[in-house]
Amino acid sequence: MKIGIDKIGFFAPNLYVDLKDLAEARGIDPNKFLIGLGQSEMAICPETQDSVSLAANAAYNILTEEDINDIDLLIFATESGVDLSKSGASFIHGLLNLKSNVRSIEMKHACYSATFAVQTAKAHIALNPTKKALVLASDLAIYGLNNSAEPTQGAGAIALLISKNPKLVEIEDDSAFLTTDVLDFWKPIYSDVALVDGHFSNQKYQESFIEVYQAYLEKTNRTINDFKAICLHTPYSKIGYKTLKMITNEDAHPELFNNYQLATTLNRRVGNIYTGALYLSLLSLLERANLKYGDRIGLYSYGSGAVAEFFSVIVSKDYEKHLNKDKNDHMLNNRMKLSIKEYEELLLKKIDGTDITFNQMDKKDNAYFYFKGISNHQRLYAKKHNFE
Ligand code: CAA
Repeated sequence: MKIGIDKIGFFAPNLYVDLKDLAEARGIDPNKFLIGLGQSEMAICPETQDSVSLAANAAYNILTEEDINDIDLLIFATESGVDLSKSGASFIHGLLNLKSNVRSIEMKHACYSATFAVQTAKAHIALNPTKKALVLASDLAIYGLNNSAEPTQGAGAIALLISKNPKLVEIEDDSAFLTTDVLDFWKPIYSDVALVDGHFSNQKYQESFIEVYQAYLEKTNRTINDFKAICLHTPYSKIGYKTLKMITNEDAHPELFNNYQLATTLNRRVGNIYTGALYLSLLSLLERANLKYGDRIGLYSYGSGAVAEFFSVIVSKDYEKHLNKDKNDHMLNNRMKLSIKEYEELLLKKIDGTDITFNQMDKKDNAYFYFKGISNHQRLYAKKHNFE
């Protein structure tokens, strides 16, 4: 039985910072961000979006009534959770009006947990072929102001519907994975921002890639020539490019590098979305590359701390008929650009537990679901009424 990704939903908040503006404000040559990191814009959340509402909006973009009836597993993968006890999955279950007989859970392992969720969902569908599983990967990458990680921030969510006979890609049974105990990137419970040992994190990302990629090749008896494209976890697009260059070069495999550029087009405009970054790259590739039925795509997932996994997917017949490229491009092209002052003010805002009610600001947030505020320490979410 073929099991894989049937649909991919994507949602980015309506605000962004142009990295040329950020470079100018920080007194840095813009080419460091544009070429050195390979990033051009970063998505920023208004106060009315968080990891829960971003994820609900990504799912809302793809789910039909039939899907809602068939889903019996919901996994919310995030490292930007809104509560240490109540699962974001249960908020989302309510917002999406899923049936009550659904298993749901929130998972965390830095940027890796969505891949664990995808593999768990695949195993679930193998046992329950008439059902569907919804995997949501949603994060706000925030490092704070005036540091070297600042231009690699971002925000957004990916929704993956996992089913049998998938319309987009089949997931193969070939994963190679590893766990190591390292402190390359982390977010202490008392901190509002992620902390990172930047160059060490790059090193672990690349060393882990080599290890799981080699293990994958040995396990499958495949070579690099078996891949039409390789998508990698994309904290910023340059790192994936440099990592691919560790295993080949552009003269030997021009198509792999061309497809890597296509696979990071969305990531360069959204920034790091942690758990969803690999799957945003896959979406970017599917929407832009010239792929054929049966082509194999390698996927490298990396979550600091660290877990890494390399696996592959096979492109489904007529996959291009089941994408929403125009809608996704329209969403990014119509975002509101923030001045650096506006961005800094937004990033420094904090929720301290006192009651607050947000009125969804049309210009800053045009999403269907939004975070409405806090009442008596309870988080409240709402739907935008003029969409109904
Ligand atoms: N024109 C063109 N290129 C320029 C330039 C200019 N004027 N100035 C500098 N550059 C280049 C540099 O040569 C360098 O390129 P190479 O890597 O090819 O040598 C690149 O720009 C970056 O320069 P630096 O290394 O000096 O940058 P930095 O030290 O200020 O910070 C960073 C880079 C460490 C990635 C930092 O942005 C960071 O900490 N980011 C967050 C951590 C991260 O994303 N880690 C990735 C691996 S961990 C992971 O994947 C998990 C996750 O999601 C966080």
